Amino acid sequence: MKAVILAGGSGTRLYPVTISINKHFLPIYNKPMIYYPLSIVMLVGIKEVVFIVNPQDLEKFEKLFGDGSHLGISIKYKVQEKPNGLAEGLILAEEHIKGDKVFYLLGDNIFYGHNLVKVFKEAMTDVETRGGAYIFGYYVRDPERFGIVEFDDKGKVISIEEKPKKPKSNYAVVGAYFFDEYASQIARNIKPSERGELEITYVLEEYLRRGSLKVKLLGRGFAWFDAGTHDSFLEAGNFVATIEHKTGLMIGCIEEIAYRNGWITREQFLSLVKSLDKSDYGKYLKRIIKEEGL
Ligand code: TTP
Repeated sequence: MKAVILAGGSGTRLYPVTISINKHFLPIYNKPMIYYPLSIVMLVGIKEVVFIVNPQDLEKFEKLFGDGSHLGISIKYKVQEKPNGLAEGLILAEEHIKGDKVFYLLGDNIFYGHNLVKVFKEAMTDVETRGGAYIFGYYVRDPERFGIVEFDDKGKVISIEEKPKKPKSNYAVVGAYFFDEYASQIARNIKPSERGELEITYVLEEYLRRGSLKVKLLGRGFAWFDAGTHDSFLEAGNFVATIEHKTGLMIGCIEEIAYRNGWITREQFLSLVKSLDKSDYGKYLKRIIKEEGL
């Protein structure tokens, strides 16, 4: 399984903040937004990652993550010339996906919760062994604003609707999807919507037609943020700060995950810690080495 993280887009909902800076570099509390989806990918154990980026941001992403070797992973970048929609990433990343299955994530989505990794891993294993696609539903009070999934009592998907006027459920489709090896081919065959974008919903609808779209619900105890608006951006930052202060552990700390996964040596980890030494982020890494005997 490979991972594709969408980190392009125009970020107009965060204007004027994102007129001159891509939102994925903005801090959600103490680390760039893009660390969070990358940390999820690493937590489920995927080591090959493709970032979809805007042309003007390629260099900045390369500066941030390089080829990923310092984290024991492989990172590739694919430029998206224009924000042509969420499904275009499947087409652009095809040469790197190379017929494999994919964990597909939106770069501005932040997840947290007990057993989150277990839930994602279960879906991943299912797609790896049986194919098809997996989406995740999250209860929202304002379903008119989201892609909404309707399902029966066995969890079988009945419909997916983008920002419905009369929502058939209160479960929003979050920005994390597992696809089998047919996703790129399906994306290549869809047509742009009225707003001129290749919609991820169309890809999901094709899986639904094929009878191979499954949903898991992220119930109570999970937090999900689409950090693409001013309020949710602030909420996500406050949430991360609160959890980190209360638990003494970081959310989305990619260096820690790389080391705990055994993907980098102690020497590599120590040199990363040294390079971050002056910030609280670096101090955290230093502290856990001492306290947890890492
Ligand atoms: P959106 O939040 O739907 O779009 P956006 O980032 O362009 O922002 P806005 O609606 O405020 O103008 O995008 C979801 C994620 O997908 C986000 O992390 C950006 C990314 N994205 C791409 O990489 N390519 C695209 O073509 C689009 C539309 C989004």
